[in-house]
Amino acid sequence: MITNAQLFSPLTLPCGVTLKNRLAKSAMSDSLGDGCGNPTSKQIRLYERWAEGGAALSIIGEVQGDPYAAEKPGNLVLGLQSDDSLLRELTQRGAQNGGLLFAQLGHAGAMTHPPIGTPKGPSALSLPSLTCAALTAGEIQHLPAQFARTALHAKTVGFGGVQIHAAHGFLLSQFLSPLFNKRTDGYGGSLANRARLLLEVIATVCDAVGPAFPVILKLNATDQLDGGFTETDALAVIAMLDTSSLDLIDISGGTYFPGAKSASDSTGNGPYFAAFAKAARAQTTIPLMLTGGIKTKEQAVALLETGTADMIGLARAFILDPSLPTTWHDGGAPPPFPRFSNPPEGGITAWYTQQIARIGQDTPIDLHADLNEAIRAYNARDDARTALWNAHFSKP
Ligand SMILES: Cc1cc2nc3c(=O)[nH]c(=O)nc-3n(C[C@H](O)[C@H](O)[C@H](O)COP(=O)(O)O)c2cc1C
Repeated sequence: MITNAQLFSPLTLPCGVTLKNRLAKSAMSDSLGDGCGNPTSKQIRLYERWAEGGAALSIIGEVQGDPYAAEKPGNLVLGLQSDDSLLRELTQRGAQNGGLLFAQLGHAGAMTHPPIGTPKGPSALSLPSLTCAALTAGEIQHLPAQFARTALHAKTVGFGGVQIHAAHGFLLSQFLSPLFNKRTDGYGGSLANRARLLLEVIATVCDAVGPAFPVILKLNATDQLDGGFTETDALAVIAMLDTSSLDLIDISGGTYFPGAKSASDSTGNGPYFAAFAKAARAQTTIPLMLTGGIKTKEQAVALLETGTADMIGLARAFILDPSLPTTWHDGGAPPPFPRFSNPPEGGITAWYTQQIARIGQDTPIDLHADLNEAIRAYNARDDARTALWNAHFSKP
């Protein structure tokens, strides 16, 4: 008999902020920014719906501090050109019903969307599908302060907390991975060196926002690439983080590098990183969230009951049912994950992104939407916003 007791009990984070239940809408790049880094009405309505649906925590994916290092032209940007009144409307309406809205602090590094920025990672890459330059030592030194400025801006406009994004192959995850980080200075080589930037970013962000404001981290268990960031590395990083002021570590895995595996495109049975989370538990007293492949209430409850995770992160399930917590509370079940035959790389993620827009316009999701049409519409929307972004953020 599955009861509601575990799922709907509150969790108080080390900073003193309480999450009302154990269900988090995991970070997603919703692609609903206006092309100038500000929220649209659809986007504001999207987060309002997730809050109305009962999520304790909802995380906006890929909120950027540097518009030249963005993942996509639908990202939000917190900076001098932000429309803070629109951001305040977003943070107020996205935190209805006792839910909290966090901003995920992104920096795409080598995976910066080339039409709108300058891809730069820890080391230069020249692959058929990805070319980037290496960040200079001077550029690296500016990064912790830049993350801290973005975090402070998030706090000022009313976000309830921030998530530092160190997963999925974006900048901080590139630094951790020996496959992408070939530096020979203090930021490359040993794991302590590869983790240096992450530790500096965490410390600088925590200092900037103060002890009562939640700062959480998204970290890969592994990037699932030969020669990349391994579970052994990740466990050692978690041990290094134990004395930090983090309020929660959200465990994920995979990367969006061309040709690699990403969790949001996976058709495998979840939960994906549960064995790792169990091992991580022995390394830290910081609360853990597990994200990836969780589809049923039974899975979520089992993860809490066994102490594998303190919070359950869900992305695609929250698209299939924006009121998932209420549905589970009342004994219902969301629609099953749709099956796609031979989806191209990135296709499933694009399909879900297109459904997100329907939630934001109060249109029922379309379980029968065509995958190829979703990919076409997804790319067309980004192409259309590229000129807008480049004009808005043009360098003087
Ligand atoms: C449309 C879409 C966009 C995503 N964007 C982000 C993102 O911006 N940041 C992030 O950390 N993860 C992102 N993810 C990954 C999810 O947070 C999650 O880790 C992954 O989808 C596995 O969880 P799930 O099986 O519950 O979907 C995205 C997933 C989807 C489906």
